[in-house]
Amino acid sequence: MKNMYENEMKLQFLSKSNNEAFARISVAAFASQLDPTIEELADIKTAVSEAVTNCIIHGYEEKEGLINIFCKLSRNTIYIEIADSGKGIENVELAKEPLYTSKPDLERSGMGFTIMESFMEDVKIESILGLGTKVSMKKTIKIKNDEEEIDEKLNSFKI
Ligand SMILES: Nc1ncnc2c1ncn2[C@@H]1O[C@H](COP(=O)(O)OP(=O)(O)OP(=O)(O)O)[C@@H](O)[C@H]1O
Ligand SMILES: [Mg+2]
Repeated sequence: MKNMYENEMKLQFLSKSNNEAFARISVAAFASQLDPTIEELADIKTAVSEAVTNCIIHGYEEKEGLINIFCKLSRNTIYIEIADSGKGIENVELAKEPLYTSKPDLERSGMGFTIMESFMEDVKIESILGLGTKVSMKKTIKIKNDEEEIDEKLNSFKI
């Protein structure tokens, strides 16, 4: 039955830095329906955190705006879209370069997109200057056999 699983959810929240944790935890709670490992869940949380932080810091530059998240579960894959209606990105190819940041003064390291690309699959960035930015990504959760599942449960009790 797990292989046939389909589900969707949407979140909309203000671009306040406190909502980064809300978004990361909400998406992780939704993703947990696919029974991911702790590592897979950590990857999803990190990618969501990077994308939402980008909307807050770069998209809206600390001004108030709305961030939209759409998540879809299909079989054992989670699809995540994170969008803002902020200032947009002038040069997406440049923005994706490791270590490129437009805000070095804010001690940004320019690694957000690189992190999303290494932890998730098919990261796509669509942006229109003055209109906003949408990041789409997916992650396929490995289907575990029973032995792996028991190991995972035991590991989660270790300190
Ligand atoms: N939602 C967005 N709206 C506008 N510009 C963005 C958005 N997301 C990213 N950018 C642009 O792309 C650049 C690269 O983003 P990336 O997340 O890789 O690095 P960073 O945010 O600058 O640093 P870090 O994520 O390491 O703190 C940003 O510096 C910014 O110029
Ligand atoms: Mg970033």
